[in-house]
Amino acid sequence: MPILSTTDLNVSRLCLGGNVFGWTADEDQSFAVLDAYAAAGGNFIDTADVYSAWAEGNSGGESETIIGKWLAKRSDRDQIVVATKVGMLAGFNNQKRDTILTSAERSLKRLGVDHIDLYYNHLDDPNTPLEETLAAYDQLVKDGKVRYVAASNFSAERLAQALEIQEREGFAKFVALQPEYNLVSRDKFEGDVQDVVARNGLATVPYFGLARGFLTGKYRPGVEVRSPRAGAASKHLDEHGLQVLEVLDDLAETHQTTVAAVALAWLAQQPTVVAPIASARTLEQLSDLTPLLDFELTQAEVDRLSAI
Ligand SMILES: NC(=O)c1ccc[n+]([C@@H]2O[C@H](COP(=O)([O-])OP(=O)(O)OC[C@H]3O[C@@H](n4cnc5c(N)ncnc54)[C@H](OP(=O)(O)O)[C@@H]3O)[C@@H](O)[C@H]2O)c1
Repeated sequence: MPILSTTDLNVSRLCLGGNVFGWTADEDQSFAVLDAYAAAGGNFIDTADVYSAWAEGNSGGESETIIGKWLAKRSDRDQIVVATKVGMLAGFNNQKRDTILTSAERSLKRLGVDHIDLYYNHLDDPNTPLEETLAAYDQLVKDGKVRYVAASNFSAERLAQALEIQEREGFAKFVALQPEYNLVSRDKFEGDVQDVVARNGLATVPYFGLARGFLTGKYRPGVEVRSPRAGAASKHLDEHGLQVLEVLDDLAETHQTTVAAVALAWLAQQPTVVAPIASARTLEQLSDLTPLLDFELTQAEVDRLSAI
């Protein structure tokens, strides 16, 4: 299993996205997906306090609560790497000291654990001094409530600035970045952001690894997909997207694997990437993703996909 940058966290090559739990997957379905993921060798679960506040009847925290109930049924909490985030839930959507400290307590309670393995600053907050934000994360690490801290959705400039402050003040440093990154959405990460990540030895844990389902190959011309993600996912169905699907189809056939596993393998094999995040709401969907756990493309195949 790869090690997450400078940490002692051993994580599986597929990180399981948790925003489906309590949204498109009810509690029983979520337990089934989590059980199957762990049985296949997965141990890295991604959630956030805000998941999934946007679903009807929800107010946030539903995903953490389900994961907490699932963990409570198991005896291997120490083998599971639990990542959660703060900063996007209504009423807690900033990076002020009090928000971070209070939200961490609420997440610990919902997850039913005494520490969070990886705690993300979900969204950069330009209205709070970085010094205040980073001191709060450092406090959580010193108090043993969080093992490692990480950033999500940061620009290259702000990430570099945050890392400089952490170094200067002797604060716990970000060990990872969680950006949007996949085969059909590369601009936001490749280049400046990736350079800062690489220069500072951070790990990349990209989200939307499947471009909201597009990279499973289920969005095709003339096919209607029923999913709350369909509007955004089907935007990738342009000339470039079709070219990507054509090569993914070809490589999936060559390796007798799934289109999703090939797309995720390309991502897992990009510089600095340790484990792509992808979610599944059913066992059938998950079984298309878990081949990634022990599947690699050749460098020539990676280059072929990168060149599109
Ligand atoms: N840091 C951030 O700001 C941020 C933002 C977004 C997400 N995230 C994290 O990243 C995770 C992944 O994002 P995501 O779940 O939105 O997108 P994704 O992983 O790119 O797409 C997953 C979705 O694709 C569909 N899918 C998966 N496997 C499939 C299969 N085998 N066949 C057909 N469809 C399949 C399912 O949606 P349908 O069945 O509904 O089509 C599934 O929920 C989230 O759970 C969350 O943990 C982080």
